[in-house]
Amino acid sequence: MKKLIVANWKMNFNPHETELFIHKLNKIDIPSNVEAVLCPPFIDLQTAARAIDAKKFKLGSQNAFHLDSGPHTGEVSAAMLRGLVDYVIIGHSERRALGEHDKIISEKMGAVIRNGLKPILCIGENLDDRHNDLSKTIVLDQLHAGLRNLTASDMSEVTIAYEPIWALSDGHGNSTHAVPEDVDFIFDAIARAIEHLYGEEVSGKVRMLYGGSADPEHSSMYMNIPGVSGLLVGGASLIASKFDDIIQSAAK
Ligand code: PGA
Repeated sequence: MKKLIVANWKMNFNPHETELFIHKLNKIDIPSNVEAVLCPPFIDLQTAARAIDAKKFKLGSQNAFHLDSGPHTGEVSAAMLRGLVDYVIIGHSERRALGEHDKIISEKMGAVIRNGLKPILCIGENLDDRHNDLSKTIVLDQLHAGLRNLTASDMSEVTIAYEPIWALSDGHGNSTHAVPEDVDFIFDAIARAIEHLYGEEVSGKVRMLYGGSADPEHSSMYMNIPGVSGLLVGGASLIASKFDDIIQSAAK
């Protein structure tokens, strides 16, 4: 199984900046055991699709609407993203914080699968949950809700990204780094839950990403957590040299 390194650009870069940045990224050597995915804002996707070296990078979006078309001002559906992206991030904590709830997230998962794309389901607890010893409960609740409508064969397209909210960088250079003991039992619990739902064979094939202040200094520590096969990278993916270093360290 290839290591999966996903760049979540969040709300950064206009189309012109995207083009300039991708010219830098195209110089990165992508090791043969790494799959690298860029998730720019919607408005940058077409520019990115033209600018990327498609032998090196795939594209993903940061969200998709749960219905395919209709009177939904300002929304972009998975149906509209077909042919443009391979992956779609669903249920990021920054979207959950805006009110995106489990029911919509499960519908979005279904829409992404129905349109032949690969969802990356984000789950993670906040600091209060952690202090109240609720990390596992919250994460498993989000997992069950996100997978509610999916069959075992759908699961071959699904990636799970565990991102403890308390460990995300704040976009102003401040990061909290979880240590493996904070998160390893969560990955174990996710894998067991998937096994319980879909069986051992399916569970063994579902990729699990860690996300939360992943940077060149800490990426190999996270990649070494049992069950982790990749990273969802926010802040550090906006700096070409850092993203390059993360990709190279993930390959080892
Ligand atoms: P971060 O973001 O790497 O900046 O913490 C990760 C994410 O939110 O996906």
